[in-house]
Amino acid sequence: MDILKPTVYVILLLTVPNTWSYPHGAPIDTCMTMLPKHRGTQSQLDRSLYRVTVSGTSYRPGSTVKVTIDSPSRAEFKGVQVRAHSTLMNQEELVGEFTNLVPPDKLIHVSCQGKKRSMVSHSNNETVTSVTVDWTAPSQNIGPVIFDVTVVQSFFKFYFGLHSVVVQPDPSFGPIVQPTILASPIKSYVSPIDWSECGDTKGCLLYPRYCTGDDCKVGVSYRLNTTDSTARFELMGKVDGYLSLGFSHDMIMGEDQTISCSAMADTVTIQNGFNHNMKYNSRELRTNLTNLEAAKVDGLLMCRFTRPVIMNLDVYIEEFGDADPTPFTFDLADDMHLFLAWGKTYTLTDVIGYHYEMPVVSESKVNFSKNRMYRGSVMPRLIRAHASLMAVAWLGFAGLAIILARYYKDGFNDKKICGIKIWFHIHRISALMTFVLTVSGLILVLIKLDGKITQDESAHTHMCLGFTVVSLVCAQVLAGLLRPGLESKVRPIFNFFHRLLGQAALIISAATIIYAYKIADFTYEMQRFGERTVAVWAGFFVFFEILFVGYKYFASKVLVFRPGSDEYNLDKLSNNLEPDETTSPSHILLFCFIVFIACSITAALCMTIFF
Ligand SMILES: *[C@@H]1O[C@H](CO)[C@@H](O)[C@H](O)[C@H]1NC(C)=O
Ligand SMILES: *[C@@H]1O[C@H](CO)[C@@H](O)[C@H](O)[C@H]1NC(C)=O
Ligand SMILES: *[C@@H]1O[C@H](CO)[C@@H](O)[C@H](O)[C@H]1NC(C)=O
Ligand SMILES: *[C@@H]1O[C@H](CO)[C@@H](O)[C@H](O)[C@H]1NC(C)=O
Repeated sequence: MDILKPTVYVILLLTVPNTWSYPHGAPIDTCMTMLPKHRGTQSQLDRSLYRVTVSGTSYRPGSTVKVTIDSPSRAEFKGVQVRAHSTLMNQEELVGEFTNLVPPDKLIHVSCQGKKRSMVSHSNNETVTSVTVDWTAPSQNIGPVIFDVTVVQSFFKFYFGLHSVVVQPDPSFGPIVQPTILASPIKSYVSPIDWSECGDTKGCLLYPRYCTGDDCKVGVSYRLNTTDSTARFELMGKVDGYLSLGFSHDMIMGEDQTISCSAMADTVTIQNGFNHNMKYNSRELRTNLTNLEAAKVDGLLMCRFTRPVIMNLDVYIEEFGDADPTPFTFDLADDMHLFLAWGKTYTLTDVIGYHYEMPVVSESKVNFSKNRMYRGSVMPRLIRAHASLMAVAWLGFAGLAIILARYYKDGFNDKKICGIKIWFHIHRISALMTFVLTVSGLILVLIKLDGKITQDESAHTHMCLGFTVVSLVCAQVLAGLLRPGLESKVRPIFNFFHRLLGQAALIISAATIIYAYKIADFTYEMQRFGERTVAVWAGFFVFFEILFVGYKYFASKVLVFRPGSDEYNLDKLSNNLEPDETTSPSHILLFCFIVFIACSITAALCMTIFF
């Protein structure tokens, strides 16, 4: 049931976790982002309501700088986060230690990145007008330092990205000591990616399936370098905010490494991260990613990076507290599934938000030593099977059953097979096929959802319409089997309702299909493809109905009510209003209709094959 999990994950994301608030302080995953995720609330833009002041503009080894957060207008606040980082090197790394938190019952320490007391957060939701903390400088000169602050005024109002002035190391401090691993700078230029080398000098995962490179929605390429045990990756996506590459040991999202290209306006950063089980993505240090290039040009997000073949992530699994991190290893010598997920960033930040569209998952595990072309899909296999069965049933057989019953009762020269008219054979087989495919499709989707009706609101309409269609088709088949005899008085009533319900089922099924594409986690391209397919199908269906009605009318007018016309040489009809082969409906039209049905089914199947 593994293949189901990406959707379950997305549905969970849509329904549960972004309603958290944190009266007891900020969780550890905000160490890197400083962004409260309060039901998707965006940061306030005003930068003058709160201020961050420091007691001195320079520091010495082990000296203390007092940091005060308050408001010139004495505005109150409930939550706060404070951290310090160098403005020169490894800006993601937190430096120094906080002590002397005032008021002590309002604030707590958070240990970020394995460093004790490297961040301060609130511990309750009581209101304050000012907080003060002492920052103790490290024992080495780490260059200029700045304090980042987020202030939470109320659940729906927070101020992100407040800063102190830069605090310089005292000149007598000695030279700046570089960290052992220096984070690479990100170049803001990406030369075009050559996708024609896919399968040759590099391996690729491209989506959708028919695309070859620049026409793709998203794509990733990789090239292993065995000399220095690194791999070079290239990412491309026609996406708004961010594009994430996930390395996963299974097809489930969770416990995966992610490397993301994330845009804040036109500036793009590259972030290392980790997908927690069924929860959220936490940002991790990107220290070991090198040769970074990232840019967004004309709505196209691109980036390149080199990663070591083996990467170890020390991840804090617990959201709060001082528990030790858990190590995870992502080794490209193991085959892994690649994920591509994309979504929006929070306003004015490069913090990646939830992805509402389903992620692309490579269909098989990727062997990074082979330069192969891999393809992925956003739809789990059972959902694809569901869609295919329903499309064949409703864009195909249902229409055929209706058209045959409506216009071809007099067709096929009234020939019979096994004592039953041909039209009725076709009608009955089509109707039964519709029934069987619909019920199988329903069973597949129920298996996929583990029998649970989805909570996803965007799927609600599709589900209600779908159940209506299923009920109608069951009722129709049952009624068809139990139909009253030809002589029965209720037969005309049966005919009327049988016809009405059949037509209703077809129309509702078209609506059901349209609403299927509105389920939020389908990509925009899929929605467009699907809606157009159904629109064209419906247009043609109506067109054919007009042709059939027109033909019937024309045939009866011309052939029956103008008997004796030389032109048509139909003398023998003059006294005979019974239909016979000359008034029989057009076989050419039926042939065209069947071609149309075949095309519709093909288009619908393309959907499940391409995406
Ligand atoms: C403050 O937090 C407590 C739980 O710690 C909660 O019961 C209370 O409703 C919160 N108050 C406000 C105003 O949010
Ligand atoms: C592989 O890495 C080595 C050492 O860094 C480098 O000299 C070489 O050019 C790289 N090979 C490729 C194909 O990039
Ligand atoms: C980065 O590489 C160094 C040395 O190879 C290693 O000690 C460290 O754990 C790595 N860090 C990450 C986050 O992979
Ligand atoms: C990946 O492909 C290489 C080269 O064909 C092969 O030697 C290796 O065994 C494969 N790796 C796995 C895990 O199958």
